[in-house]
Amino acid sequence: MSKSIFVCQNCGAEHRKWAGQCLDCSEWNCIVEQNDAAITARVGSKGKVLNSSSITEISTKESPRRNTGVEELNRVLGGGLVPGSAVLIGGDPGIGKSTLLLQASSHLAALGGILYITGEESVSQVKMRGERIDALHQDLMLISASELESIMATISKQRPAAVVIDSIQTMVTNRLTSAPGTVSQVRDCAAALIQQAKQLGHALILAGHVTKDGSIAGPRVLEHMVDAVLYFEGDKGHTHRILRAVKNRFGPAGEIGVFEMSDRGLIGIRDASKLFLAERAHDVPGSTVLACMEGTRPLLVEVQALVAPTVYSTPKRSSVGLDINRIAMLAAVLERRIGIPLGQYDIYVNVAGGARISEPAADLAVLLAIISAYQEKPLPSDMALFGEVGLTGEIRPVGNPEARVREAASLGFSKLLLPRENETRVQESNLAVTLRKSAVGLTCLPAKHLSEAVQIALG
Ligand code: TYD
Ligand code: MG
Repeated sequence: MSKSIFVCQNCGAEHRKWAGQCLDCSEWNCIVEQNDAAITARVGSKGKVLNSSSITEISTKESPRRNTGVEELNRVLGGGLVPGSAVLIGGDPGIGKSTLLLQASSHLAALGGILYITGEESVSQVKMRGERIDALHQDLMLISASELESIMATISKQRPAAVVIDSIQTMVTNRLTSAPGTVSQVRDCAAALIQQAKQLGHALILAGHVTKDGSIAGPRVLEHMVDAVLYFEGDKGHTHRILRAVKNRFGPAGEIGVFEMSDRGLIGIRDASKLFLAERAHDVPGSTVLACMEGTRPLLVEVQALVAPTVYSTPKRSSVGLDINRIAMLAAVLERRIGIPLGQYDIYVNVAGGARISEPAADLAVLLAIISAYQEKPLPSDMALFGEVGLTGEIRPVGNPEARVREAASLGFSKLLLPRENETRVQESNLAVTLRKSAVGLTCLPAKHLSEAVQIALG
């Protein structure tokens, strides 16, 4: 075995042996083992002159995407799996990664063979799951293994159309002495598998556990190496799961797929808004319905707020599913622009059903939920809303108003509170005509300032 050196990932200093702290830059947990044969080879080679091509003359043959058979997964991938691409699916242990991969594999198998490598379970365990979720196909080949070199040799011999590695944290290369799951093992194994996939042209799907403990490498260290990164979210208390593309070289990032975990595997949910609004209580204070966008998909979710007198010297702002700094800012806007003395109150905000919202279009829904909770006055239960709120309390337009309006109308909401500029745009588009004709009876209620919105929703 060739000798290894240990390189600090922070400052690049090289060490003879591993240490918890780099002696050069004093950073902790940043030293990673590297195989020095590879490094010497790279430094020692002279390099040859490369050919350049004019950008106008490069041929771009769009490779056909492969249908994974799981519609929500196709959507998140941007229309299917691209041959030769490397996809990382991350998520907490037990969230459903193996289930999803097995379901997709049984469909992909029909398109030219798939090699499913499981480092965590035995092949009979995988088969038992496959029987339960109806994912058996004779060209779905299983291997229970974890040694990288043997796996790669098998792949080049069998030449499958796609390879699934479940999970990357269980893979080990014998070039390194470090334990499976460490940063250097995970990164080295992934790099080798990705390079092989690009050379041979098969699609590669890596499953990776998200770990809170820093000693085991999570999927984050691989994000820059792959073409697409999908995260599986959802909490254990709910049966639904959200698959979110945080990076995608072949499609839009931010796209989501919604699933429900059943006893027969994951079931795609096309009408996700209905699912998120299913448990909504009507006519209770502190609840609003937000029309938000998840990628290209409109989604209605319930935003809940609770305002309670504080027992702390600094009042608490807490949030599930929304950015906490944004909540603190919005609370300050409320205090200064609407005159609600929130300095004496704790604020809790929650997106019902475990969804996670990161767009500023949620501002108005958050603010009205807080005001509604504070005044103990419910909003009309047939009202949905969206809009960004600035520091002066002005309501700003957001992207895709038409899609939001359409989604609210299709779910039977009869009032929609929205930024004035967005309302103008909707009125000018032919969507307004369609809505009027289709007897849905959705009324758009435009507002320019937060005080105006409060008047409309709670006045
Ligand atoms: P799994 O796919 O093994 O998770 P991961 O690979 O992300 O660790 O999913 C395991 C969970 O899903 C487990 O708690 C059982 C549940 N499950 C179902 O509810 N129905 C099913 O059909 C399957 C296969 C799993
Ligand atoms: Mg698993």
